[in-house]
Amino acid sequence: MAVVVSSSGNAPAFKAKMTVYVFVCVVIAAFGGLIFGYDIGISANVNDFKGGVTAMDDFLKKFFPSVWEKKQHVHENNYCKYDNQFLQLFTSSLYLAALVASFLASAVCSKLGRKPTMQFASIFFLIGVGLTAGAVNIVMLIIGRILLGFGVGFGNQAVPLFLSEIAPAQLRGGLNIVFQLMVTIGIFIANLVNYFTATVHPNGWRIALGGAAIPAVILLFGSLIICETPTSLIERNKNEEGKKALRKIRGVDDINEEYESIVNACEIASQVKDPYRKLLKPASRPPFIIGMLLQLFQQFTGINAIMFYAPVLFQTVGFGSDAALLSAVITGVINVLSTFVGIYLVDRTGRRFLLLQSSVHMLICQLIIGIILAKDLGTTGTLGKPQALVVVIFVCVYVMGFAWSWGPLGWLIPSETFPLETRSAGFAVAVSCNMFFTFVIAQAFLSMLCGMRSGIFFFFSAWIIVMGLFAMFFIPETKGVPIDEMRERVWKPHWFWKRYMLAEDDHQDVEKRT
Ligand code: BGC
Repeated sequence: MAVVVSSSGNAPAFKAKMTVYVFVCVVIAAFGGLIFGYDIGISANVNDFKGGVTAMDDFLKKFFPSVWEKKQHVHENNYCKYDNQFLQLFTSSLYLAALVASFLASAVCSKLGRKPTMQFASIFFLIGVGLTAGAVNIVMLIIGRILLGFGVGFGNQAVPLFLSEIAPAQLRGGLNIVFQLMVTIGIFIANLVNYFTATVHPNGWRIALGGAAIPAVILLFGSLIICETPTSLIERNKNEEGKKALRKIRGVDDINEEYESIVNACEIASQVKDPYRKLLKPASRPPFIIGMLLQLFQQFTGINAIMFYAPVLFQTVGFGSDAALLSAVITGVINVLSTFVGIYLVDRTGRRFLLLQSSVHMLICQLIIGIILAKDLGTTGTLGKPQALVVVIFVCVYVMGFAWSWGPLGWLIPSETFPLETRSAGFAVAVSCNMFFTFVIAQAFLSMLCGMRSGIFFFFSAWIIVMGLFAMFFIPETKGVPIDEMRERVWKPHWFWKRYMLAEDDHQDVEKRT
């Protein structure tokens, strides 16, 4: 089966078909996203709310006995849940490890290719899963967690880049978002696994942690049949192989134009010896600043905080002991299904429309939730059922908006906007920023909630206004633009960013003259 890709958007694109082979490559690579999502869901960043392994008594008694002890005696209210920074740090060690690993992964990605980087990711995952699921002491557990973090660092570095490079320009957005789709599926599966293994004593937590081995094995063996991206092959002087790979994934004979464009990009890239130094040059500023800010914005939408808080809200509505399951199923399914909306729309309406629409959409949700909680929920009081129901509905509507915008686009835009010479390095900075801000929110959320109470929703609302305005003025449309043509077609014509491009051109002129 091969569907001809029609040229749409604001730029003529190269000839390509949507081939079955590309589809298979996309799905296999995106398993990296599934493992990331599973890791987010399984340990529960905010241990009290989500019932991940860190909320399981067997697990706490074995590895964190003093935490378990204390937890039995604390008095909680609606905003101040038991908060243990040490336990939180254990969960977050994955993000810290991933933060560091993404730089290493970037070097592997450039020197050896996207495919081996994914293979390394799956090996890190497998060892990490073995150590955490089989842990007999805390050292094993933490080393395992760090290795899982390395897996996330390598996977999140290689997979979005891989997807953006093998996708035909007109379908790049949708195919890249398959990564986020798998993240949401991973979170969803992990929440279900958490729920069911919580009642398995004493080793339910081992089953939960061990589950990640399945997608890791799929990624490892699957990565044997996928191809390397033509860009990465040509960048490493394997031009003939690159041409063959390009012909195979595009499903058409006439790939010369795209091939030339890649060769051109590789020539420019080969003159850059230090990509990190190049990142600091004016011409790199647009994708660099946008790539970093997108990560800050993605996390400061408050998504993880809200998703972790959701079970408490569901409980308040009156679902009792089923709250955790119901919340996992309802928010999980909404998260997954709404990501399909993103896949469908991103190459039709474009990236900007989704970012702007969802900023208004998510702002309204946050404000309504904040106002209801501020008005009706005292410090220890409970919400009335109707109010709680409205809150739950708006939590779901909010998750929907995130799932088709800031969630996937936080990964897509940085993976498609850097020129080849800084693509891997620039994306590594973006990945590590994502990990850093995820860490910050995970570490601070419970204390913030306790200190700010319903104000936390207004705090996130303020951020949503900032990011909406930023998107409006500074994030250009990249729909349909070939990945190696961003400079000419996106940055040079942009009302603000063009100044850095012109500065660079002037600089090069002066260099040539002297
Ligand atoms: C974010 C995660 C978040 C997930 C929710 C991802 O894009 O990076 O932090 O938990 O989306 O679906």
